[in-house]
Amino acid sequence: MKLTLEQCTIRPWRLDDAESLVRHANNRKVWLGLRDIFPHPYTIQDAHEFLQRAVTEQPQMKFCIEIGGAAVGGIGVHPGQDVHRYTATLGYWLGENFWGRGITTEAVTAVTDICFKNYPLHRISAEVFANNPASARVLEKAGFAFEGRLKKNVLKDGNFSIRFCTPE
Ligand SMILES: CC(C)(COP(=O)(O)OP(=O)(O)OC[C@H]1O[C@@H](n2cnc3c(N)ncnc32)[C@H](O)[C@@H]1OP(=O)(O)O)[C@@H](O)C(=O)NCCC(=O)NCCS
Repeated sequence: MKLTLEQCTIRPWRLDDAESLVRHANNRKVWLGLRDIFPHPYTIQDAHEFLQRAVTEQPQMKFCIEIGGAAVGGIGVHPGQDVHRYTATLGYWLGENFWGRGITTEAVTAVTDICFKNYPLHRISAEVFANNPASARVLEKAGFAFEGRLKKNVLKDGNFSIRFCTPE
């Protein structure tokens, strides 16, 4: 899959994205919005391991956000299993240099549309930590609807709470 959007391109990860990936992923502000499986500090070894997994998984559901030829962020679709086999969750991040320009909103909107068109999904949802209003706003602008709050569901950087959003 390759999507050429107004401000960025969404494409599969490549093994040669490692250096650019580290440059943008090795940022505590990025890590704060994500699950702890996203490393911090983010080393070149972390990048090689992630890229090796991303390029071999089938179907490929983890994508790079490319701007100006560089890999500056990521967006991943995680298909559910068992009773959740018609649902998927979405995760995303963008290098701090590019925040506040509508780039993630553009990426999330396009990837959600493509997934609904190409897979038999009935629901795509995303989890946002309660202290991440920018991400909640991204989802709102991309057409997701707030569903509720799960209290004490997550411990991130010493703080509890998480909220869920999903499309209408
Ligand atoms: C969250 C993140 C993806 C946003 O990316 P982005 O490209 O800057 O997002 P956009 O520019 O598309 O939209 C951001 C919106 O949030 C708003 N916003 C930013 N900071 C905000 C704040 N503190 N309070 C309320 N709204 C805020 C912006 O004004 C913008 O909304 P607007 O267009 O109505 O003005 C990016 O900051 C990031 O990668 N963070 C670290 C990882 C992360 O949190 N990932 C999400 C996991 S759920």
